[in-house]
Amino acid sequence: MFSLQLKAVAGRDISHMVETTRHPFLQGLSKYRGAPPTFLVIFGASGDLTARKLAPALYNLDIDHLLPAAFALVGYSRSATTEADFRQGIHDAIQQFSRRPLNENCWKSLQDRIFYHRGDYDGQVAFHSLAERLKQMESALGRDVQFLFYMATPPTVFKSVLENLGQSGLASHHRDTELASKVIVEKPFGWDLASAQELNQIIARRFVEHHIYRIDHYLGKETVQDLLVQRFANSIFEPIWNREYVAYVQITVAETIGVGNRGAYYDHSGALRDMIQNHTMQLLSLVAMGPPVSLDPEAIRDEKVKVLKAVQPPSLSSEQSDVVRARYEAGWIDGEPVVGYLQESQIPPHSWTETYAALRLFINNWRWKGVPFYLRSGKRLARRVSEIAICFKRPPGILFMEEDRFNIANNTLAISIQPDEGVTLLMNAKVPGLETRTQPVKMHFRHATTFGSNTSEAYERLILDAMIGDSTLFIRGDEAESSWRILTPVLKFWEQCGDRGLEHYAAGSWGPAASDSLMWENHHQWRQPSP
Ligand code: BG6
Repeated sequence: MFSLQLKAVAGRDISHMVETTRHPFLQGLSKYRGAPPTFLVIFGASGDLTARKLAPALYNLDIDHLLPAAFALVGYSRSATTEADFRQGIHDAIQQFSRRPLNENCWKSLQDRIFYHRGDYDGQVAFHSLAERLKQMESALGRDVQFLFYMATPPTVFKSVLENLGQSGLASHHRDTELASKVIVEKPFGWDLASAQELNQIIARRFVEHHIYRIDHYLGKETVQDLLVQRFANSIFEPIWNREYVAYVQITVAETIGVGNRGAYYDHSGALRDMIQNHTMQLLSLVAMGPPVSLDPEAIRDEKVKVLKAVQPPSLSSEQSDVVRARYEAGWIDGEPVVGYLQESQIPPHSWTETYAALRLFINNWRWKGVPFYLRSGKRLARRVSEIAICFKRPPGILFMEEDRFNIANNTLAISIQPDEGVTLLMNAKVPGLETRTQPVKMHFRHATTFGSNTSEAYERLILDAMIGDSTLFIRGDEAESSWRILTPVLKFWEQCGDRGLEHYAAGSWGPAASDSLMWENHHQWRQPSP
């Protein structure tokens, strides 16, 4: 009966949407198996994000039987694509970008649940027809379904999409029930503090805060989630995680890629907006926050906001600036010559956009007062690596004084987020022999060695969490604003300076010398994470 209705409504058989979960023995064991019936609508479905991240994530969730039994994906975009072509595009994207190879049998089960809806973002007509279509699909299914809207469009259309979701009734579908509509918002979340505040207000008119999922895909990475476990499931770290023992903290998010075909977006963004405001500041808040009272999403996010609010605005004075920005010049990456930023496509010749940013931040609270937190992120650097290093104070120089035979390093706990996920503790040990000589040595824990290497991608976890309504790994509105509050004065200052003060670095290096000086002023040093 249902299948007939579904065929009639959607033009094809989606009757398997009413199948029960394929591993019934697992039901109840995991909250993820209980994801409610969901229609996921992706706005910006013809874009890069859908192809590279969202389609592969959905495919892998499906293989793992983690999509709800009643699920459909509706791609929405302005492109004049047929449903068949859209499906083919998704197929090809999975083939190219999925972490697991595309299996045609698995694909067949997913493809029948993929639909395409063409429409504008600013007109109301297409949204009303979308609403009509989704409701017909729902009634054909014979069950209530939650609508999950994914904003994968450029931010310029966020506002009109949200208005239209409101006007068409889509935002209020099943309001005040567990199946109320939800929205996932991609970065960039605003351009500065004022635009983030405005965006928060616009979304709040249509959705309640716990139904808004502001994405930062770094929070979906296994190793980022592991940070909480490392810190709070081990009793040895917390007592020394403060200004008494820690000399400084450094956070590196380095990439070897350039701006590729994203020049137009990137030139308006730059490293501070693209990487520091979100990913790097998230790492900072997770590493610096106090212990939450529970694992409840609000308890965790309260602590993150608290620590962000304690971050002092960085000094911009020419005598002692806490910020460095730079742009890559031509150089070498993996033995291949690469062009400089200004020669990349879509970059205007007089651009002064930074492709590298480094900051020294201080957190004015009981735990961290006086401890510098150094953050750096850049494109076309020597290696792709994301790492947090906690550098502890040196022992008092009583026994092993500064002599050549005593090579004493600061104890350092290096948490590698990617690509070689794990934790390394740098300690000092005696070199075997009659004379007492010391040497720094490393103790390693590698995720891949212990847990295997094919872990799920960040977007898989995040989409699933949004489906089941868990907002722990998403950014709360006040959190986004707190981060912008710290960085907006820096952006304004750079706007005033133009290219004055913009440093340069060769592609394939570790960034500009000015960034090393930022550290040297305090006798600190960037690590050069080894492969
Ligand atoms: C995105 C940025 O948010 O993160 C990109 O817009 C960047 O510029 C990417 O390349 C890095 O993500 P990952 O997961 O490869 O470290």
